[in-house]
Amino acid sequence: MRHRLIIGNWKLNGNKNITKNFIKSLCTELSNISFCDIAIAPPAVYLYLAKQEISNINISLSAQNVDINLCGAFTGETSADMLKDIGVKYVIIGHSERRTYHKETNDFVAKKFQVLKQSGLIPVLCIGETQEENEAGKTEEVCSNQIDAILKTQGILAFQKSVIAYEPIWSIGTGKSANPIQVQKVHNFIRNYLKKQDTTIAEQIIIQYGGSVNDEKKATEFFMQPDIDGILVGGASLKLNVFISIIRAIATTNKNLKSELNIIK
Ligand code: PGA
Repeated sequence: MRHRLIIGNWKLNGNKNITKNFIKSLCTELSNISFCDIAIAPPAVYLYLAKQEISNINISLSAQNVDINLCGAFTGETSADMLKDIGVKYVIIGHSERRTYHKETNDFVAKKFQVLKQSGLIPVLCIGETQEENEAGKTEEVCSNQIDAILKTQGILAFQKSVIAYEPIWSIGTGKSANPIQVQKVHNFIRNYLKKQDTTIAEQIIIQYGGSVNDEKKATEFFMQPDIDGILVGGASLKLNVFISIIRAIATTNKNLKSELNIIK
């Protein structure tokens, strides 16, 4: 069975105190949790501090971005090897905010994917369509094009031990989360698309949903769907209690996890 994965993407938020206190409290609150993996993605400048505070083996560190180069004259950038060096496990790439504000193309994101795989880090590849593309019925086309950029350059094996986050752009930060049944259809499409290349990899890959998941009820509805393996939480990941309640939603959707649920109540 695929492991559940919840990542909290802090985006451009936080400071030294928030990072320290949040991670410390999260580790205490979730001290015995084992039914899912959790990762926190603070801004790059706080990653090392966050690492010092993590005291729970199921909580790990995610970066929000990486450069395509490993070293050299690339002012202002952070390399995959540097992230690995300080204990980062996951790296979010292709987030729509980077695609929009930094003009990152599918091919550029594919290069980031490659450099992460080569450095032994886990890419969290964000894909998803705009409102207009959604209304024009182009969701599958957009998602498959974004995946193709990696398939064409690195093949299906690159998706082994990788994560895909389906994030319809119109639902990010808008409070308008997508319909879980519709999201399930897209996730199923993504899995089947990869299945054409390799069934085992397609069955194992974690596909997260992201976009305005900001309470336990919504999270539960997503976790009820068979192909939704996790959530990439944005705004709500900065509120400790809300973030914990989203994690708790996993346990409420699986009877076998009820005993663990008591631990985090
Ligand atoms: P949101 O962001 O939860 O604030 O909508 C999700 C994301 O950008 O990953």
